[in-house]
Amino acid sequence: MSVVAIARVLLPAGLEPIRDLAKIRIGGVDATPDRVREITAGAEALVADPTVGVDAELLDAAGPGLRLVANFAVGYDNVDLEECRRRGIVVTNTPDVLTNATAELALTLTLAAARFLSEGERDLRAGRWQGLEPGAYRGLELSGATVGVVGLGRIGGRYAELLAGFGVELLYAARSPKPEAEARLAASRVELEELLRRSDVVSLHAPASPETHHLIDAEALRLMEEQAVLVNTARGSLVDLAAVAAALREGRLGAVGLDVYEDEPRIPAEILEAPHAVLAPHIGSATIKARDAMARMVTDSVIAVLDGCEPPNRVV
Ligand code: DGY
Repeated sequence: MSVVAIARVLLPAGLEPIRDLAKIRIGGVDATPDRVREITAGAEALVADPTVGVDAELLDAAGPGLRLVANFAVGYDNVDLEECRRRGIVVTNTPDVLTNATAELALTLTLAAARFLSEGERDLRAGRWQGLEPGAYRGLELSGATVGVVGLGRIGGRYAELLAGFGVELLYAARSPKPEAEARLAASRVELEELLRRSDVVSLHAPASPETHHLIDAEALRLMEEQAVLVNTARGSLVDLAAVAAALREGRLGAVGLDVYEDEPRIPAEILEAPHAVLAPHIGSATIKARDAMARMVTDSVIAVLDGCEPPNRVV
């Protein structure tokens, strides 16, 4: 029987269909890299997620029988694609099914950050709230604001669509023009620098890559409005958190809504202590519907590869 290694966990929606087809080894939610290597040894398929670094060391531990890395995420920056390609290992991801969930979280963070929701709730719970105060918690109203979407792909595009009812002006920055989306969303393509200068809200939807590493750094933050809101549901590496924390502290940035961090699950103290920061624990795709669909997609890839067929959503 084939061995399928699940580096951490796979939801029942994904597990059930393969339970009787393969010998399943499960690392557990707190699996260490050693544990992941141990359960992957001799496996034909590995189910990974963004917390699992799939590198040469893990692939060596897996041995020559490994045929598939099925990543439970649309992003696959945790996987060394070159190394997989070189070894003839197929890599798949879980696109589309999490687009809406992630865009909805980006919108949630936009609104929550713009209205200082975390701060208000913390004050209230701590007994610091003295009742309605006209000058307190005055945030950004989305209606009439300019929103800059960095990366108008599936998730960025859906986020822009969701904003349509708010009466915002939409700008976007992307490597290539998106004429269809521009027309549909009444969005204007501008250079990143112009987007940063003009936007009241900047929401990041670009993949992690050497090009996007610290796209938002101290210099980028200097271009942004003092009241601007920054939202990141893409990948932590896009944002220099130390620079963001300093900008918040010094009143050079209005607020942030973050779901992803550079060295998850470690969060730098300076961002935890910074004012006007709404911080979510990487829950972009965490709806019942999206996560179940992602689990089924992962399993579809596993079944296809074990059957010797072409899997859906192949990246490599
Ligand atoms: C993804 O799919 O890349 C998300 O970050 C997982 O929630």
